Amino acid sequence: MDIPEKNKPTRNLALELVRVTEAGALGAGRFMGRGNKEEADAAAVDAMRLILKTVDMDGVIVIGEGEKDEAPMLYNGERVGNGGYPDVDVAVDPVDGTRPLAYGQLNAIATVAVAPRGTMFDPGPFVYMHKIAVGPAAKGKIDINASVVDNLNAVAKARGKQISDVTAVVLDRPRHKKLIEEIRSAGARLRQIPDGDVAAALMTCLPDTGIDILIGIGGTPEGVLAACALQAMGGEIQGRLYARDSQELALGQQAGYDFDKVLTMPDLVASEDVFFVATGITDGELLKGVKYFSNTARTESIVIRGLTGTVRWITATHRWDKLNKISAIQY
Ligand code: FBP
Repeated sequence: MDIPEKNKPTRNLALELVRVTEAGALGAGRFMGRGNKEEADAAAVDAMRLILKTVDMDGVIVIGEGEKDEAPMLYNGERVGNGGYPDVDVAVDPVDGTRPLAYGQLNAIATVAVAPRGTMFDPGPFVYMHKIAVGPAAKGKIDINASVVDNLNAVAKARGKQISDVTAVVLDRPRHKKLIEEIRSAGARLRQIPDGDVAAALMTCLPDTGIDILIGIGGTPEGVLAACALQAMGGEIQGRLYARDSQELALGQQAGYDFDKVLTMPDLVASEDVFFVATGITDGELLKGVKYFSNTARTESIVIRGLTGTVRWITATHRWDKLNKISAIQY
């Protein structure tokens, strides 16, 4: 029987991309606690780049390790994939949580997202943005320009609970002093995290985590990655670029960036046909970190496809004796 083209099951690129983040985590995991962020990041970059090359796609890195002159690999604009179909934008964060990885702390992950060509927001050199992110129940109820208390009340109502039972996550940074005071005086619960706001945004979509909302200023690349994950999971993130000083603001304005504009989901990633994967490097709430054994290592990953909303958790066992025979890098 001939199945009409539109009814044929299509490819889940995330199932291939998970090999990329697994490789990154396996490479970088060895650097846990060694106190060297650069080495750990480079190990993840090397391993991820090698596998990315094999993925059947024509990818352009929109969110990468930075501009070409500062990042030799996985730089913004680099072509990745084997040049096949589909044409896609790629966001990579080989290590979200370089500090926790380097100092042997929790919640470092390797992550990649892919969406159709031209659909991802390109933040240029502007590294920070205001963010507010929620899971599916509160989608459409938040407003980054509204007060903190209004947003917390909206989330409480959407989730059918009291504001005192709403848990907000905020990066532990001096710049969030006022935000933290506002959350406290609204009467909500507060989780302060040292790093890793991609995982924190994603956790708003996973009810078991108990996390209801992420608020605060974090990395712009991480904001786009989180938008891909939340698009796929049915949640929502809004952003607004944040300039650290008047010079950065002037530079941005000259380049045509609007620092007052609310970046909505379609601004951050304008497609539902998005794929998001992450693998734990160090143990965390979202994912277990890499475990190394005598001849094997175990990884845990989350693999999400936007078109179907399917979320898979993949635990993999990797064998050094076999891998090292065929790999261009030694694990
Ligand atoms: P890196 O590991 O890439 O440094 O990012 C960690 C992180 O905590 C992100 O999750 C977050 O968006 C960003 O840093 C916040 O930036 P800063 O540490 O400068 O406040």
